Amino acid sequence: MDLERLIKGLDLATKISLVTGADMWSLPAAPEIGLRRLVMSDGPIGVRGEQWDPGDPSIALPSPTALAATWDTALVRRAGLLLAQEARRKGVHMLLAPTLNLHRSPLGGRHFECFSEDPFLTGEIGAAYAGGVQAGGVAATAKHFVANDSETDRFTADIRADERTLRELYLAPFERLAAAGVWAVMAAYNSVNGTTMTEHSALLNDVLKDEWGFDGLVVSDWTATRDTERSALGGLDAAMPGPRNPWGDRLAEAVRDGRVPEEVVDDKVRRVLRLAQRAGALGEPVPPAVSSAVPPARPIDGRVLAREAAARSFVLLADERGLLPLAGVRSLALVGSAAADAKAMGGGSAQVFPAHVVSPLEALSRREGLDIRYALGADPRVRLAPLAVPTTARFLDAGGDVLAEHPLPAAQAHWVAALPPDVDAAALAAVELRATLTPAVSGGHELGVTGTGAFALSVDGHTVLEKSIYPDTSDLASLLLAPGERRIVVELTAGVPVELAVRHTTGAFHGLPRIAFSLGHADPPPDEEALLAEAERVAASADVAVVVVSTTMEVESEGFDRQNLALPGRQDELVTRVAAANPRTIVVLNTGSPVEMPWLDRVAAVLLTWFPGQEGGDALADVLFGDAEPGGRLPTTWPVTAADCPVLDVTPADGALSYDEGVFIGYRGWERLGRTPAFWFGHGLGYTTWSYDEIAAEGRTVTVAVTNTGARPGREVVQLYLSPDSPDSPDSPASPGSPGSAGVERPARWLAAFDTVDAGPGQTVLVTLVLPERAFQIWTDDGWRTVPGAYRVHAARGLGDERLTASLTV
Ligand code: BGC
Repeated sequence: MDLERLIKGLDLATKISLVTGADMWSLPAAPEIGLRRLVMSDGPIGVRGEQWDPGDPSIALPSPTALAATWDTALVRRAGLLLAQEARRKGVHMLLAPTLNLHRSPLGGRHFECFSEDPFLTGEIGAAYAGGVQAGGVAATAKHFVANDSETDRFTADIRADERTLRELYLAPFERLAAAGVWAVMAAYNSVNGTTMTEHSALLNDVLKDEWGFDGLVVSDWTATRDTERSALGGLDAAMPGPRNPWGDRLAEAVRDGRVPEEVVDDKVRRVLRLAQRAGALGEPVPPAVSSAVPPARPIDGRVLAREAAARSFVLLADERGLLPLAGVRSLALVGSAAADAKAMGGGSAQVFPAHVVSPLEALSRREGLDIRYALGADPRVRLAPLAVPTTARFLDAGGDVLAEHPLPAAQAHWVAALPPDVDAAALAAVELRATLTPAVSGGHELGVTGTGAFALSVDGHTVLEKSIYPDTSDLASLLLAPGERRIVVELTAGVPVELAVRHTTGAFHGLPRIAFSLGHADPPPDEEALLAEAERVAASADVAVVVVSTTMEVESEGFDRQNLALPGRQDELVTRVAAANPRTIVVLNTGSPVEMPWLDRVAAVLLTWFPGQEGGDALADVLFGDAEPGGRLPTTWPVTAADCPVLDVTPADGALSYDEGVFIGYRGWERLGRTPAFWFGHGLGYTTWSYDEIAAEGRTVTVAVTNTGARPGREVVQLYLSPDSPDSPDSPASPGSPGSAGVERPARWLAAFDTVDAGPGQTVLVTLVLPERAFQIWTDDGWRTVPGAYRVHAARGLGDERLTASLTV
């Protein structure tokens, strides 16, 4: 289709409407040119769709860090294809993912949503993800461009970083995706070196569009557009959400006044239309379901893929005595709140509502011949869990008349930006959740309301709580992401049902509906000490103990950063006491990002399962009993204590957050400081052993022979690192003519290539990897420069387990 002809036929008002959000999740249709509404949706682990509603479930994959932990681009591409399939099922053209920001500090609230601390791994996994999404006919959006690596003051933080640091680390994954042809990029909330990213012409126009040749759409992060003229001239192409935002009429006026040339708007429209054409929203509609016209030819089974991806992402951190996989186990003590209430995902816009989450307890209980003994042990939750009984949501008008009713699986209301189609938005005044609670035990039950706005809670028709809840924040997103909670205790009698109702006076968010609240409940709280003692008793009684410890969404979420790296509640004490009661204790870490493990040398094994998505419980059962191998390797260095981390601070000072460490984040920083982490980048044991037999380098092509020396088939991630081949220490300039003498301080080693291989017992496999040119380059005042000279290439099972090295010269 001739886009230029289409653009010529549009008047200014229409052109501007096409680049200004029509509502929370779309750009408007223009039927006169065959353009349909262009629908966008979060996010990395699933496709929420326009209705952010438990009644419209989505497949929930493992968290992005977990996907990166597979180091498996083919698998990640399949995950992308599945997401495209989900997007098309939900009428979504543009997926607001992947998140390409880096693990700069483990305190970053969205750490779980980012792939890695390493820019190369991030770029490769991100390109595979975006490639899969786009092969399925849906736009991927590389976000958040750029340097949105933590959450504190995210709307205003000014990231100060020098050009080399930006180019070699933070921009690198975006450059990789631009080269791979990503269709959209999201401009971040933060500023970089004094300019907010939605107005950053030097990065959006000069680098992204001109230098890298990005021909796609630059969309703002939600509400990130500030100044009309500066954003329009600065390279932003679409301002979201709408309809009320700094573009629309104000942009039309700026064009009429000559402050913004019309050709600038034309280019934005061109980019919108190009994306619409690519994603099937312009011209002939692409069939709504996955068909042979759009790969994959056959639908992907989301549950099967979610389970496979989870198992492949699990990292066996430690297992000195070879306890795993379990064999001959008849009784298993399963301990921990997260064993029953699995933490499938982190908090924020990455959240979706899966139809069902398989918990470890559910999955292990299904295994034949296994006697499962469960104990809660310690509860890390900060908020009450929504009451898990069938609930009716009633939409009420100002007179209290019912406009519509919807059944819900639990007492959790969630309609953000879009109401159910049968609700008259103009008449809506309140939403009420009604549920019947039949207490299992007598005593003081806790009831709570979580949300933002005005609430009234009643028990059997009597109002027991009437409150307005407003969090103390200027971050509008936090109203949704970190809502407040109010609780009361009511005396209830076992077996005597009570009718509960919570009524919420509805509010708006940028002129859009924002209904997000829940009615929480907890049985009379047991004595913490008794819980711990019970866990010890249960652990001592069984052949093996599995303790599942976790963070929660109150700890790991968009909208705020973590305070520390400790497991919340008394979970460390729980692990220590269970391990003392049963020497065969396996700790399962159900966390999105690093936590301290003060009990590490007292437990038999540690298995990191991340936020594993909806099928995590079954994947855990598969891995514990050896039906699947924990195939993951760490995509980020795991510290002993937070204080050891080379970069920790995420709090801007006087509005600025300085990336003073330069290129030395993650393992680059650990090596520079000579510190030893708990587990190095790239570490992961798997279930078999490998010998690295030979390495040969020919130009930039490196061949490695590896043999599976264990007794079962396995999968290895062969990792190649580069270092300047110089007798000098890496941080002092080396002899003239060697790459160490590039005139700048370089990391001791950096990841340059990787691949996964499968091999049966005794089998030897040859892996051939080509080191990219970029691996030999540094950013200088004159741009990228290949540093000639001698290098050493290291074949390693993570930076802590180097196996072979070879020399090569470029
Ligand atoms: C997040 C984005 C997200 C957007 C829309 C923002 O708060 O930073 O990642 O895509 O909301 O939900």
